[in-house]
Amino acid sequence: MTTLDFSIRKKEHHPISMVTCYDSTFARLVNESDVDCILIGDSLAMVIHGENTTIPATIDMMEMHTKAVRKGAPDKFIVADMPFLATRKGLSYAVECAGRLLCAGANAVKIERISTQKETISYLVESGIPVMAHLGLTPQFYNTLGGHKRQGKTDTEAERIKKEAQLAVECGCFSVLLECIPPEIAADITNSIDAATIGIGCGDGTDGQVLVLHDMLGLTECAPKFVTKYMEGAALVKDALNQYAAKVAAH
Ligand code: KIV
Repeated sequence: MTTLDFSIRKKEHHPISMVTCYDSTFARLVNESDVDCILIGDSLAMVIHGENTTIPATIDMMEMHTKAVRKGAPDKFIVADMPFLATRKGLSYAVECAGRLLCAGANAVKIERISTQKETISYLVESGIPVMAHLGLTPQFYNTLGGHKRQGKTDTEAERIKKEAQLAVECGCFSVLLECIPPEIAADITNSIDAATIGIGCGDGTDGQVLVLHDMLGLTECAPKFVTKYMEGAALVKDALNQYAAKVAAH
């Protein structure tokens, strides 16, 4: 898959599947699966490093996990998150961070919100760094939004997100990730822009779907309500650990 396939798949109505991944062991399994592409989300701060928000993710962390995932998944299209404030400390810092992620093995970067960052995003795109926009619930704005809360509930908010999606396309973003907005708004945005939309917690009217791997495998303690668990990972792991402990204890 390449950036070009995102719009091809949109035109062909062939939905795109994406999962998060943070390490080479899971990356190898995703690489051997039919899932189309990988997101190295800054959710790794929460899922892997035990933080309460994505805010503590650093560029060093993102780079390290990107290298690990690329080693396990040589064949997949990989998007890596630009961490909190990486695009807000000036153009040269944004280029440096995005460059590090691409050199570590990412094919594209994801950036939360567009409206005050048009110049930076256009410059990255013009520099050969494909950008996926992230709109709706943008977890790096946890403190501004008052938590991980659904967005786009009022007409004004929905209109603002729709305008930002159009702006993302104007800046050259190849895809727009929509998180936790009403399904009808996500579908409306999907129908109104040329770039492929990838949804999470937005219903099935987007051009693709993304899930946090540990949530869909049932490994996370409290996954969001909209997540379908495709296995009871926590129970299976605990059962295996208990079998091992029992065997050791028996000798
Ligand atoms: O960081 C992340 O995992 C994400 C997904 C929730 C879309 O941005």
